[in-house]
Amino acid sequence: MVTILEINKKFGGLRWKLVSTYLLLVLLTILLINSFINESLRINYTDEKKISLLTQSNIIADRLSPYISEIDSKYVNNLVKDIAMKLSIEIKSRVMISDRNGKILIDSYDTLEGQRLNKEELSLALLGKNVAKQHYLDEYGRVVYVAVPIVSKGSIVGAVFISSSLEEIFANIRSTMRKFVVLSFFSLAITAFISFIFSDIISKPIEKLTEAVRKMALGKFNQKVEVYGNDEISNLGSAFNLMTTKLDQVDKQRREFVANVSHELRTPLSSIKILSESLIHQEHVPEEIYREFLIDIDSEVDRLNKIIDNLLYLVDLEKENIDLDYQLSYVNYLIQKILGGLKPLADKKNIELSFVERVRIQVMIDKSKIQQSLINIIGNAIKYTPKNGKVNVELYTEKDKFVIKVEDSGMGIPQDELPFIFDRFYRVDKARARKTGGTGLGLSITQQLIALHQGEIKVESVVDKGTIVYIRLPLKATL
Ligand SMILES: Nc1ncnc2c1ncn2[C@@H]1O[C@H](COP(=O)(O)OP(=O)(O)O)[C@@H](O)[C@H]1O
Ligand SMILES: [Mg+2]
Repeated sequence: MVTILEINKKFGGLRWKLVSTYLLLVLLTILLINSFINESLRINYTDEKKISLLTQSNIIADRLSPYISEIDSKYVNNLVKDIAMKLSIEIKSRVMISDRNGKILIDSYDTLEGQRLNKEELSLALLGKNVAKQHYLDEYGRVVYVAVPIVSKGSIVGAVFISSSLEEIFANIRSTMRKFVVLSFFSLAITAFISFIFSDIISKPIEKLTEAVRKMALGKFNQKVEVYGNDEISNLGSAFNLMTTKLDQVDKQRREFVANVSHELRTPLSSIKILSESLIHQEHVPEEIYREFLIDIDSEVDRLNKIIDNLLYLVDLEKENIDLDYQLSYVNYLIQKILGGLKPLADKKNIELSFVERVRIQVMIDKSKIQQSLINIIGNAIKYTPKNGKVNVELYTEKDKFVIKVEDSGMGIPQDELPFIFDRFYRVDKARARKTGGTGLGLSITQQLIALHQGEIKVESVVDKGTIVYIRLPLKATL
């Protein structure tokens, strides 16, 4: 059963709108052309007829002018009548000849001879004018009256009056117009056909896009549409494909992220669970063990807190609703302060910390955020360098940038893992990293903070030899 909704869908669609628009346009054009042709044909034909009748009338008037004064003679009368009759047959019209008072002398239809003809055209002709005028008569339809004076020796002696039907002309026009209407229907049908096919070219891809978007709404992001040609619709298709690729990527990242987060949170939670359960299920646990276990639980809770804090901070960074608090800062001093803070950590592993200041730099930066980034990078260098190693920080300029280079003599990062170290939760050696207390979020956060400063961060590393991190920041901040 076809419902109203289906009909609406079928005929309310883009295709039908296009087809009906085209049809309407063509129809309007045809109507306009139609009435224009009709009108000009009518005017042309009737004007032509009037001019030809006027010419004929004048020729007759010239020929008759010598005879009108002697029309009383039977011979002359017959002669004039003969001329009038011949003309009447030739031009299929009623021909009348009047004297100077408007009395009909000759009538090719015989009925009016001897009577006065009271027609405006005749009166005007007797005043010396050539007149042709169209009338509508109930019995005969459209007619034209033509009247011209007959002039003899300078004075008007009478007039020629012709009444001719225009119906034949109008019949001709009507038949021409009928042919035109048939042609119009043909062109309408062709328009409908062509616009139907043409609208398909437009509506089909849109239907496919709609279909793809519907599937996306159901969560299937990996939709692709075929793209042909290089018009607006195919551009839309390409843009759509680009968008779905991106969305698919984002969706994958989101899934990975959620999986990572749950994993990262579950690990400390399971430790806590194991620790507390073993306390609960054992009777008579010595107090030192209690203390020891509780300290472990406490540190796992700290770790959970750290992960969650970092995560929330990262989410804020990615939403880009972090405003930088730019202030003029002395970079040399900032680095010295950071190194001072990290010194106890380095001392514990007997790592030699050094700072090479090639330049003195004062720039506009968000001091606390750059400090946070540097603590992370230098902290990593210390963390991932074994005992008795070296960590060196160097400050220098490069064109319109300044560079903070952090070099360590640590374990290094395998070449194939380098591209991933900025990913959230990514750690080269998961087990050891947990022991060192890292969350795997530090480099992610650092990269975002440096990017917010229009800077960039690059890492070079050789396994078992060491790692170099370059942080490049603009000397002139664009605030
Ligand atoms: N200087 C370095 N030397 C060796 N490995 C490093 C260094 N810096 C970072 N890494 C590796 O990159 C991973 C990601 O670093 P980061 O995001 O700071 O996380 P983490 O919390 O583990 O420090 C680290 O787990 C480590 O494997
Ligand atoms: Mg770190």
